[in-house]
Parts: sequence; C-alpha cells; structure tokens
Amino acid sequence: MRRIAILNQKGGVGKTTTTVNLAAALARLGYRVLVLDMDPQAHATLHFGVDPTTLDHSMYELLTSGTSLREAVRHLAPNLSLVGSHIDLAAAEVELVGVVGREVILRDLLRKELSCDEQGATPAMPLRCGATAFALTLDRDRHEPPDFLLMDCPPSLGILTLNALTAANEVLIPLQPHFLALHGMSKLLETIALVHQRINRQLRVTGVVLCMVETNTKLAAEVEADLRDFLERRRDSRLPWAEAVIFDTRIRRNIRLAECPSHGKTIFEYAPTSNGARDYFDLALELVRRHEGEHDAATAPTGAGVALQESARSEDQLDGASRQPSQHDATEPAICVGETKPAEGECTQ
Ligand SMILES: Nc1ncnc2c1ncn2[C@@H]1O[C@H](COP(=O)(O)OP(=O)(O)OP(=O)(O)O)[C@@H](O)[C@H]1O
Ligand SMILES: [Mg+2]
Repeated sequence: MRRIAILNQKGGVGKTTTTVNLAAALARLGYRVLVLDMDPQAHATLHFGVDPTTLDHSMYELLTSGTSLREAVRHLAPNLSLVGSHIDLAAAEVELVGVVGREVILRDLLRKELSCDEQGATPAMPLRCGATAFALTLDRDRHEPPDFLLMDCPPSLGILTLNALTAANEVLIPLQPHFLALHGMSKLLETIALVHQRINRQLRVTGVVLCMVETNTKLAAEVEADLRDFLERRRDSRLPWAEAVIFDTRIRRNIRLAECPSHGKTIFEYAPTSNGARDYFDLALELVRRHEGEHDAATAPTGAGVALQESARSEDQLDGASRQPSQHDATEPAICVGETKPAEGECTQ
C-alpha cells in the first residue's frame, strides 16, 4: 500500500485539489484509494461533496478516542473511500499535547487495521487482513487493503501533520511556482528529515508537483529552475528527498478546478474534458509509472472507462489556458475519463 502525505505548510498551494483529484483519477484507473482528510478546515471532505456536520465519526474521533477506521470510513464511489474531517479536529492539536506517543497514533491504527499477513492465505482470501471487515466496506469483492492511502495535510507542521508523516511512506509536495515559492521549503524538508531520522525510516519525498502553473510565463520557468537547483544541491543519499523529482506533469491553472469544490464534485465529475481533468489524470499515470516502471503503467488502467477524444475540445479555450507542449502536442487526443458520459460522438472507446 502506498501511503502518501500531500504536504506543504504553505497555504493555498493546491494540496487539497491534488489530493481529491489525484484520488479520483487513481480510483478511475482501477486502484483502490482511501483518502484521509487530516485538515480541520475539512476542505477535502467538502470537495468530495460530504457535509462535515453529517459525519458520525471523523479523523478527530480516530485520533482522540480510538474509533476504528471501519466506523469512520465513508464509501464515495467505486474504489474510492474517505475518512472525513470536521472543525473539531483543530482541538486534537491541543488535546493530544499530553498524550504519550501522540505522533504515532495514526500509524499504529493503520498497522492494526490495514496490515495484511500472507501466512495462512487461501485462494478465497489471498491476504489475511487485520481488518477484513474494513476491507469489505472498501470493496466487497476484494479482501485487501487499499492500493493508495492519500492524506490531505493542513498548512502547518503540527501534530496532525506529524501523524501523517509518521504513517506515510511517501510525501508529495504541491508547489505553486510563484515569488517566494521556495520560502519555507528548507523548514519542510527539515521536518521530514527529523521524522525520517527519529520515527519513520521508510519515509521519502517522492516529488514536487507544480500546481496552478501559468504556462509560458517566465516566472514559472524561473521558479522551476530554482527548485531543480535547490533539490540538486541537497542531494544526499542519506536524506529522504535524495531521489525527489519534479513531476513532468504540471497542473495548469484551470478555472474548472477552482469551481468544482463548490459543487462538491471531483474534476472528473464536474468537467471531465477540461485541462484540469487531463492534468490530474496524467499525474496519476505518472505517479504509477515512476513507481512501477513504464510497462506496468501502460497496463495499469483496469476497467478505467478511459476514452480518448479525437480532437482537442473547446473547453481548453474556455479556460483561457494554453496547452502544455511538453505533455501533449496539438493533435494529441484529449481525454474523457471515467463514468461521466461524454456527449455523443466526442469520445472513442
Ligand atoms: N490548478 C488550479 N487552477 C485554478 N485554481 C486552483 C487550482 N488548484 C487549486 N486551485 C484553487 O486554489 C485554491 C487553493 O487550493 P487548495 O485548497 O487545493 O490549496 P491547499 O494547499 O489545500 O490550501 P490550504 O493550505 O488552505 O489547505 C482553491 O480555491 C482551489 O480551488
Ligand atoms: Mg487544503
């Protein structure tokens, strides 16, 4: 199971947008995804169309009163589940101050509920999971933990973020390439290094995702060059970001991505042919490809319902954003993803 903390203590850089839409893209590729909303602002919860006040159990109860994942998880769509958040979670920072081992609560809970043991496996039950019942709520036909656990972190380096870093094996850093984008990066990497050194030797920074990119601007190119230089200068095999990359996929500024949270929909439900859907789908493929190698990524989609559109859609022009030459040339087909049915004749299966 890839356990990914989506983290940058800088606010408004695209963490939640990335968590929600990356999760939706991976789910549509056939991977089972569980999202943990670790932010008291509950933006990911709202983005998925879940009203935090309707949650019987949330991340707050999970961290403070031993509620099980099974009780807190909410099934959203095929392959996609959520443990939601609530403003109450802000109190956890204070309530956990005196609790011994407060940084490892989430890690221990996941170990207990999601770890699987291959010993004693049977064809009917290939893995004996610590929480088979939980696995059943994720997907009734598959008695396994999710393939991806995505944690949407708050814009701070407090106890909630520490719990995510301790439970994760990867960190994804969304970064908006603008003035002072790298300000705070040293502090972030320092925190990751400390957690790696003291609590979680598995932790590594997978990479930086450039979000809200204004294509063809000099500033974006300059920030990217600075970032590359920043990462290169800090390469050291002992450090958890020794192999961190800048993802080839850039998430362009796209008005549809800004609109979809207020509709409680992912970009694939709200605007499946937009640049935003295309970019997050590409990011999901890249995340898989970098991990498993080119061949596996090419075969990754299973029943994903991915259809290729013959020509670029006018939606691209609606966004007012030019397309990314590095990812798609002008004649490359656009993507219609998932179950959202395209207008007749627009997509070929
Ligand atoms: N690619 C994009 N194009 C246009 N708007 C975007 C894009 N990505 C995110 N946004 C918008 O920018 C704002 C900040 O994004 P988001 O909430 O994902 O950031 P965040 O890092 O999670 O913020 P916070 O630190 O408050 O948790 C939101 O209004 C979101 O809809
Ligand atoms: Mg957020």
